[in-house]
Amino acid sequence: MVTTADLLRLYPGIRIEEDGGFEQVMQIKVHAFGKRVRERMLPSQEILSQRLFDQSVELTDLRNHLQRYHAMMAALRERIQQQEAQTGMAALGEFLDGQLADILGRTEAPNALAVMDDMLRVMSAHVTLHPSRHEFFVEGADTLLEAALRAGLAVNYGCSNGNCGLCKARVISGQVQRVRPHDYVLSEAERSQGYTLLCSHAAVGDLVLEALETSSADDIPQQQIVARIKSNEALGNDVRLLHLQTPRNNRLRFLAGQSVTLAAGEATAQLPIASCPCDDRNLHFHIVRDADDDFSRQVYEVLGAGDPVTVFGPWGDFALHAESPRPILFVAGDAGFAPIKGLIEHAMSLDAAELLHLYWHASAPTGHYLANLCRSWADALDNFRYTALAEGGVDDLVGRMAQDHADLAAFDIYLAGPGAFVEEATKALAQQGFPPSQLVATAT
Ligand code: FES
Repeated sequence: MVTTADLLRLYPGIRIEEDGGFEQVMQIKVHAFGKRVRERMLPSQEILSQRLFDQSVELTDLRNHLQRYHAMMAALRERIQQQEAQTGMAALGEFLDGQLADILGRTEAPNALAVMDDMLRVMSAHVTLHPSRHEFFVEGADTLLEAALRAGLAVNYGCSNGNCGLCKARVISGQVQRVRPHDYVLSEAERSQGYTLLCSHAAVGDLVLEALETSSADDIPQQQIVARIKSNEALGNDVRLLHLQTPRNNRLRFLAGQSVTLAAGEATAQLPIASCPCDDRNLHFHIVRDADDDFSRQVYEVLGAGDPVTVFGPWGDFALHAESPRPILFVAGDAGFAPIKGLIEHAMSLDAAELLHLYWHASAPTGHYLANLCRSWADALDNFRYTALAEGGVDDLVGRMAQDHADLAAFDIYLAGPGAFVEEATKALAQQGFPPSQLVATAT
């Protein structure tokens, strides 16, 4: 891929803007962008028309109210005029006329926030889940399942494709609309009780649902999926990002922080997923170069875009304790950043913790291979801090944490890295008196 700017540097005499082909490409680009925005941002026509219909009903109601008030004011004015004719006093009539003239003469701009709020009610719907009381918004053309996953909620589901019935949920109040076809047939009794399928329906307006949510890794079934490599690119010294994409109708259900086994030909490896289940079709892995590891060699020497990789899993219980009210410290050692990245993205989509602080200790040559990403999180979010450490040992790291946060025991700590790193950090935290029940650790 070569950018236009680079091409122009090579051929400075060329005037591409004077070329008919350039204009054509620009038009295609604008059209494609508009189409993508429409597909992604706008709800389906049915949903949009239903939401506009609901707003029109509300507006008509308000108009009727106004007409009734108007009629009442006219009757009141007539009554006052009659009274004034009998008593000869005109003060009340003048007062009323003055007030009405004042109200009708005002030319205030509409309240921008109220206008925005009305607009948002057309573009998105608010959903509350019971019994957890978790909340999320359904935006654009998302189904209820996609919107819940994007919000970091671990709702129950299977195929994401309308076949298995595992995403069944009961509508307590509000209205849903089918936006994707589904083969699974709800029984008559289920339909009459208000059950719906999250993966094929969207919210028409604000909604309250009764839905099962996963609370532990044990609730997630083992799966086997053949995914394809979307990209295989270098992240830095001796570490690559392997990006797999699952078929649209067979996505991997997992909790952030969990691992899977990947198999390419004869080579297999158990690796932590470095992405968030909020985008369950796209799975990221950080592969460190290791000449003694068959799978690593495949990634560095053989595998490319489009190649199949079989995914088994998920495994492990290194996952976010989403119900904990405590702020969070994430501690990564070298490529232990992979599962920590998944957890951070999950915590960000839940938007629940008051503070997220990442300590990344990188002593291996791979270094802080995604430092820019961490810095961009810290720049964009008020509640995210990033500390990169390359010098010193694990004791220095834990000392730094205790120095930054005087009351370490007020935090939950998620720790991932090479076995020796995790062991030493666990010991050092214990010496600081950190409660073991608030430490979740995994060796990568
Ligand atoms: S997830 Fe299978 S039917 Fe919805």
